[in-house]
Amino acid sequence: MVSIEWDSNLSVGVELIDEQHKMLIQRLRELSEAIEVTQGTSQIMKTLDFLIDYTDFHFSTEEKHMTELTYPGLGAHREQHGVFKDSLNRLVEDFEEEGATGALAESVNVFLVNWLINHIKGVDKEFGDYLRQKDITL
Ligand SMILES: [Fe+2]
Repeated sequence: MVSIEWDSNLSVGVELIDEQHKMLIQRLRELSEAIEVTQGTSQIMKTLDFLIDYTDFHFSTEEKHMTELTYPGLGAHREQHGVFKDSLNRLVEDFEEEGATGALAESVNVFLVNWLINHIKGVDKEFGDYLRQKDITL
């Protein structure tokens, strides 16, 4: 099972983004649970769709604010978001081809979770620092 929980170590100091990260983590956990208790295909697909939709929404929110602020880290940040989206798309393909395998659960629990934690603690926090330096509230 996914062991990721939001706690203050993951705070980027921006409420809007922290709240979205909490929801993203919750969706990731729901997907992991759905795969591990091997819920029916349609239920797993539903949690995957939820996660994909929410990921798009969240990444768009960050990128929209970065664009508006002509944030210098936007390009590199967007690239990282692209990596996660590509991984999610591959996950959907794997699921469609092979179902809820142990390898699929591993991809969610290890790769997606690690990516998210590293991303939040790295470039998302950098963006939070930038906003504070410039005294900008989202
Ligand atoms: Fe981000």
